[in-house]
Amino acid sequence: MIPPKPAPRPDRVTLWRYLRLFRADILSAQPARLYRAWMAEFRTPFFRSYLCNDPELVDLVLKGRPMDFPKSGRIREGLKPLLGASVFITNGAVWAHQRRIIDPAFEGGRLRESFAAMWEAGRASVDRIRRKAGSEPVEIEEEMSHAAADVIFRTLFSIPIEDTTASAVFSAFRAHQRAAPVVNLGALLPLPDWVPRFHRRETRATAARIRALIAGLTERRAAEIAAGTAPDDLATKIMTTADPETGTPFSTEEMVDQVAIFFLAGHETSAAALGWSLYLLALHPDWQDRAAAEALAVLGEVPDFSVLSRLVVARAVFREAMRLYPPVPMFVRETRMAEIFRGRTLAPGAQVVLSPWHLHRHERLWENPDGFDPARWDTENGRACMRRAYIPFSAGPRVCPGAGFAMAEGPLVLALLLRDFRFEPAGGAPVVPIAQLTVRARDGIRLRVTPRDVTSTAVSGVKQI
Ligand code: HEM
Repeated sequence: MIPPKPAPRPDRVTLWRYLRLFRADILSAQPARLYRAWMAEFRTPFFRSYLCNDPELVDLVLKGRPMDFPKSGRIREGLKPLLGASVFITNGAVWAHQRRIIDPAFEGGRLRESFAAMWEAGRASVDRIRRKAGSEPVEIEEEMSHAAADVIFRTLFSIPIEDTTASAVFSAFRAHQRAAPVVNLGALLPLPDWVPRFHRRETRATAARIRALIAGLTERRAAEIAAGTAPDDLATKIMTTADPETGTPFSTEEMVDQVAIFFLAGHETSAAALGWSLYLLALHPDWQDRAAAEALAVLGEVPDFSVLSRLVVARAVFREAMRLYPPVPMFVRETRMAEIFRGRTLAPGAQVVLSPWHLHRHERLWENPDGFDPARWDTENGRACMRRAYIPFSAGPRVCPGAGFAMAEGPLVLALLLRDFRFEPAGGAPVVPIAQLTVRARDGIRLRVTPRDVTSTAVSGVKQI
């Protein structure tokens, strides 16, 4: 069974039709030939953009000469009310300074320290779902947003989502998304720079509310650090790290910018990947049984970091879910000078679009590109494509700093859920992927959740592994 893929648009459409389609959903606004092309040029009356699917070009832009392909100013405009000058939108020296402070907090050793908090958030999600499981289908994307937000609050500030400020930030973010549903993707819209971007009053108001709440958390933490009573979590680590080159730590204002992006980039993305993983497992009960048997065999009753390396099936499933439904479907860079790509000249200021969505399903690179097959990672083609054509976290110096964090959180939360529950499709209308802030299901993902029959899973699962 082929998991859902948006219907592409016809090959030729007028610019205005394209803009309308694009506003509705960038995935279905693209023609099918992008799944076979190495590069495609989009001409608008105002500027050109180039989608690059050629692994050599992707490598050049992200790893070869990344400083010659900075983030586009359009992105900054779209996200400024919420993110200020956060590491996600800065370039050059400011960006490098921010990464030198942030990166140590996400290194392997620190992950071990975040693990217990991830475990507690996973267990809390199991308890919430247990209260809802039964005859009524569960809206699984919503549950996973809740769980991923809980992971971020617990690891960053040592507070659960039930904390008053944490839950206020979480609901303010939801209101913000409703007010600015394409906050990120709007920045990709093929409009010239001189078209002013008006942020609706509501968008500005929700952004200000989120930032005020985060400022409260950050100021409180600064006081705890000064008093020597701060917990040893990610916020403390980041706020007490000075840039090794300049000796300066973040100011409180700078820290607010970074916390806003950790929350936004860190919870929407993981939530999307977890939601799709569970949906794909509901469609493929054989893989679900294997992952559940592994969870039952590997997980104990208390957090133990060493289980991570043994969650092999859960990791393969999570990786495959992000191949088919990359949470960040496309991202954009800009040329600083003229470039020659596959014999074509790109003018300075051209938009270079990197599309995990197309690269991950490229028909000339992947075997069975649209099928769900977590076993592919053990094949020669899967291994080669993982190196050349798999970029859910981007790559190079601007790679997602949370990649290792997400690759721990995802398989762990999946395993905790599969140990206790069986997930089945709830029927009804087919699930349609669309790109909102991340790749989501247009009408949500509703699954029937029942307690797992431990005896039969363990027996059949062990046989299959
Ligand atoms: C499944 C989960 C995740 C996915 C798929 C993901 C994906 C990405 C991608 C594709 C980028 C690059 C975007 C671009 O260049 O325009 C990025 C950047 C970023 N991500 Fe993640 N991310 C995930 C989780 C996280 C987590 C958990 C955190 C932090 C707690 C995080 C923090 C960031 C930050 C700060 C950046 C900006 C880095 C920079 O520009 O230097 N992400 N992420």
